Amino acid sequence: MKTRITEMLGIEYPIIQGGMAWVAEHNLAAAVSEAGGFGLIGGANAPGEVVRAEIRKAKELTDKPFGVNVMLLSPHADDVAKVVVEEGIKVVTTGAGNPEKYMDMWKSAGIKVIPVVASVALARRMEKYGADALVAEGTESGGHIGEQTTMTLVPQVVDAVSIPVIAAGGIGDGRGIAAAFMLGAEAVQMGTRFVVAKESIVHANYKQRVIKAKDIDSAVTGRSHGHPVRCLRNQMTREYVKLEQEGKSFEELEYLTLGTLRTAVMEGDVTNGTVMAGQIAGMISKEQTCKEMIEEMMAQASELMHWS
Ligand SMILES: Cc1cc2nc3c(=O)[nH]c(=O)nc-3n(C[C@H](O)[C@H](O)[C@H](O)COP(=O)(O)O)c2cc1C
Repeated sequence: MKTRITEMLGIEYPIIQGGMAWVAEHNLAAAVSEAGGFGLIGGANAPGEVVRAEIRKAKELTDKPFGVNVMLLSPHADDVAKVVVEEGIKVVTTGAGNPEKYMDMWKSAGIKVIPVVASVALARRMEKYGADALVAEGTESGGHIGEQTTMTLVPQVVDAVSIPVIAAGGIGDGRGIAAAFMLGAEAVQMGTRFVVAKESIVHANYKQRVIKAKDIDSAVTGRSHGHPVRCLRNQMTREYVKLEQEGKSFEELEYLTLGTLRTAVMEGDVTNGTVMAGQIAGMISKEQTCKEMIEEMMAQASELMHWS
């Protein structure tokens, strides 16, 4: 099973694990890469030295390729951008902004740059800036989202650019992978399903909340101030949405979520924490190793797509 993405990333299967803040640390990234997919370490808002330590720990666990997600809005983005070069990382995905100012440095280090986009306009802009591929991420995703669905976004982005496209948002099994390929994607990126991987360090309460979730259990906070985030419904989301409806400002709302992804992931506070997960959570029913997940999904996709 070869596509421009599997060739570019040097991987066996066209499955990428999203660079999730707090969740995508070295154990998960290395396990996905060891299983033949592509693991990413989530840089999130972490300082450069923290990301460097994560990269080094992942290298102790796997010789296979893995990458780093650089959050461009992070106060440490400049440092993390340099750390990935110094540590010999070959693939960077970027979120929340324009990676243009790092392009020359990354390109001369031989790094492939893959921005995450939620619209055709941004996809075109990123191709112009020199992106090597794109992640087209639909609103079904967990975490920060755009408004287009994966079903509508992926084929429109595929038509708009000539670089390869990775589909993300709402993909949780082999059917989802096959569907993404039918829309023109050359790989998929998944987040929510990998949250419950055995190798994921996410607190058991969080994993159970994802496993028990129904199809309609996610909510979107932050639409009123233009920074929508999809997470599973709880006391925090109810309070947040109520205050949004009352017209509270971004500053007034922010205190509700500051640091709460960390408390959900690390301490298991699924009541007041931010339990980021996508709409596909309703279909995720068990904890498995990354290898089991990837092999199961690839077998299903291969049968549907007649990949031999
Ligand atoms: C807990 C969580 C945290 C996330 N954090 C980030 C992040 O820091 N940077 C990023 O580019 N994407 C982030 N994402 C999005 C994922 O990388 C991925 O694109 C998305 O989860 C795909 O959709 P799915 O959840 O339906 O599989 C996050 C997703 C989740 C569930």
